[in-house]
Amino acid sequence: MELMDIILKRRSIRKYTGEDIPEETLHQILRAGLLAPTSRNLRPWEFYAVRDKETLRRLSAAKTAGGGMLAQCSAAIAVFGDSEKADTWVEDCSIAMSFMMLMAEEKGVGSCWVQIHFRTDASGKAAEENVREILAVPSRFRIAGILSLGIPAEEAKAHTLSDADWGKVHRI
Ligand SMILES: Cc1cc2nc3c(=O)[nH]c(=O)nc-3n(C[C@H](O)[C@H](O)[C@H](O)COP(=O)(O)O)c2cc1C
Repeated sequence: MELMDIILKRRSIRKYTGEDIPEETLHQILRAGLLAPTSRNLRPWEFYAVRDKETLRRLSAAKTAGGGMLAQCSAAIAVFGDSEKADTWVEDCSIAMSFMMLMAEEKGVGSCWVQIHFRTDASGKAAEENVREILAVPSRFRIAGILSLGIPAEEAKAHTLSDADWGKVHRI
């Protein structure tokens, strides 16, 4: 598939069939993230690839809303940045997540970014803290987001070239 076709076809998918995505496919998605560019080539990320159903269920409850699909997905990749290694961890990790979303699309896997940073659970506790506890992640690792992955059980209309808002481009 042409890269532009993948970009247009990629939509956030939140419903999954329950079928497992093959280990080789998960490997290819992770590898795409590991090959993303980073400032000073520091690669400050740490990817936590989760398949365990109980852990996925606990992650789905880490924040009040918008993470429910984690309980149904086949796998999730929680992306952390080592804040002591690079002050660009947010940028570096976000690019890696984007690469992984595009690779997932290319492999027929639905994905959705789950925002954790700045979100809380019902008691007001930081969702990031919950995720760090669930996955036993050191405190210097900061969360960029979680990618939920699964075989799509919903169809989302592809973007079209006309969705590109050229008013956002300022030529000087
Ligand atoms: C930084 C970021 C955070 C997001 N957080 C969530 C989330 O917590 N839950 C969710 O269901 N979707 C989340 N999304 C998905 C967006 O809602 C989605 O990308 C947007 O509506 C555009 O739709 P599309 O991805 O299908 O093109 C997030 C996307 C981004 C880029």
